[in-house]
Amino acid sequence: MKVININQCYLYLNKKFNKKGLELSKHDFYTMVSHLLNVSFLNAKMVTLINGNVFNKLKKYSKKLITGMPIQYVLNSANFCGFDMYVDSSVLIPRFDSEALIPIIVKEVLDNDNVLDLCSGSGALGIATVKLAEEQNKFLNLTCADISEKALNISKKNCYKNYVNAKFVLSDLFDKIDEKFDVIICNPPYVKNSEYEGLDKMVKDFEPKLALVSGDSGLEFYEKIIPQLKDHLTYRGKIYFEYGLHQENDIKKLLIKDFRCIKIIKDNSGNNRFISAVKRD
Ligand SMILES: C[S@@+](CC[C@H](N)C(=O)[O-])C[C@H]1O[C@@H](n2cnc3c(N)ncnc32)[C@H](O)[C@@H]1O
Repeated sequence: MKVININQCYLYLNKKFNKKGLELSKHDFYTMVSHLLNVSFLNAKMVTLINGNVFNKLKKYSKKLITGMPIQYVLNSANFCGFDMYVDSSVLIPRFDSEALIPIIVKEVLDNDNVLDLCSGSGALGIATVKLAEEQNKFLNLTCADISEKALNISKKNCYKNYVNAKFVLSDLFDKIDEKFDVIICNPPYVKNSEYEGLDKMVKDFEPKLALVSGDSGLEFYEKIIPQLKDHLTYRGKIYFEYGLHQENDIKKLLIKDFRCIKIIKDNSGNNRFISAVKRD
């Protein structure tokens, strides 16, 4: 079988990028190599030779990457809290920023809690919570709910891939949900209509608008969800929301009637990005 020097392979692919005035980043290149060889990123950087099969796949991936497609969609793979999630352009790529919320939820959940991941997309938030709670001998019952059938199927696939048992509900927010939960995790769309055009081209061109935009204020989802929470949370049940920069005061105002112990939590970049609260007795 044909064997190719990896540096020559990089130069060959990078030339294609250069022709379009672009550069193939070494990070993306070794991410693709590590994915194809199923080795860590560091080990991928030690590889010197690849076979023709791997080279052909690198060419195929590069064709997509050159269009501006995020590498996670190219590889159908995103890492979230150390767990591999299948992603394609019908779900938002789970964000590194969102990871900061998971250990906080894991610390506060109790064994056998019923957990709802509302607006679940790839299912990353719910799945990572279940997996990390398991490591602390807390076994959770997960339900994923989303309005998008394609997204819900991806969350199913990711549960299967990560050995998580869950229920799946195709629902416009709580429309098809009758149950009560001990914990609800929700990262809803929160971008203002007017902000959408200003988003990164990579996001606009490849990520689903349905996962991002929430009316003129960016708050429409919180305004719809929060008044319904008391009927879907058990006694002293907890809500954990992700939100966009500077939305915390508006969300706090919406929560104050039915919730106490309202806490603001920072993301991995030190910005206030999550809010948790406990249902009033
Ligand atoms: C910001 S994404 C979050 C996805 C995932 N939880 C994450 O953090 O990566 C928002 C999700 O809400 C879903 N969504 C939008 N409108 C909805 C609605 N009315 N009811 C339920 N889900 C909705 C979208 O399909 C999308 O998957």
